[in-house]
Amino acid sequence: MNITDVKNIAVIGAGNMGHQIALLCALHGYKTTCTDVNPNILEKAEQFADSYLPERVKKAKLTQEQADQARANIIFTPSLEAAVTDADYVIEAVLEILDVKRKVFASLDRLAPPHAILATNSSFIVSSRIADVTHRQSKVLNLHFFNPALVMKLVEVVQGPHVSDETAQISLAVCERLDKVGVHLKKEVEGFLLNRILKAIAREAFWLLEMGVASFEDIDKAQVYGAGHPMGAFRLMDLTGLDLAYTRSMEKFRETGDPADLPGPSLVERYVKGWYGEKTGKGWYDYSEKK
Ligand code: 3HC
Repeated sequence: MNITDVKNIAVIGAGNMGHQIALLCALHGYKTTCTDVNPNILEKAEQFADSYLPERVKKAKLTQEQADQARANIIFTPSLEAAVTDADYVIEAVLEILDVKRKVFASLDRLAPPHAILATNSSFIVSSRIADVTHRQSKVLNLHFFNPALVMKLVEVVQGPHVSDETAQISLAVCERLDKVGVHLKKEVEGFLLNRILKAIAREAFWLLEMGVASFEDIDKAQVYGAGHPMGAFRLMDLTGLDLAYTRSMEKFRETGDPADLPGPSLVERYVKGWYGEKTGKGWYDYSEKK
């Protein structure tokens, strides 16, 4: 198999990341299917495509023809089977729960053509913890996009010990076709490259907050106005989801049993209130007024 054999891409999970990854694929000429078990999330993803594309035309970032072509390239379907039956490349972006991902990959292995590469967009679960539920371990890898996926150029291609060179090279070529900057991780490591760096920053930001040194707003301001980062750690958490930050910490704690890995009280407080960030209208900041 080589990059020219990749014509159809299926995106599984139409949430925070999946809806934009799917549209990105459609915008770059792939016949794309997008599916989700939750009909509301799937409907929202379709509505996003229907509003985003005309906005890009209005902003002169796309021609009408390009927008029409992208819209024609993408199909939203509630059926996993229909989504993957002709897929050459599958990108999974479902909940960050290992058991859920393992079940999804077992189904993908059964339903997708044998040649298809199965990638996970997981933020922190390495593909070797998933690949063994399939009969194609050499074709299962991490392909990690960043939020918002239509904008951020980086994609991490993680080649665990079970992943073939062919799978890694095709995945890097897919990134190039999506106009992304693919970086090749030759080893699996938790958090990959960027999330390890962002986590180190977030850990310091949390420490400063929990110690009462400064408010989260001022800590964010320090990062933005002192270091030129596009947003501070707390604002970024609102974008990527406090539920993700909480789940990641809890998963880590379950592995290590180290209380230092537990989410801090200020994160737990927001998590139990359902303040997950932009997607729920409130996280660290309030988005209820945001259009
Ligand atoms: N969806 C799609 N496009 C968006 C968007 C969104 N949610 N938010 C902004 N954009 C687009 C705008 O349309 C605009 O596009 P254009 O220039 O082509 O017209 C462009 O991004 C800039 O938007 P704005 O001028 O409105 O806003 P900013 O200049 O403040 O940029 C941002 C917004 C791109 C989100 C910027 O703040 C940023 O880069 N933030 C950091 C994001 C980041 O660090 N992401 C990585 C998170 S970690 C992660 O995802 C890992 C995962 O495992 C959790």
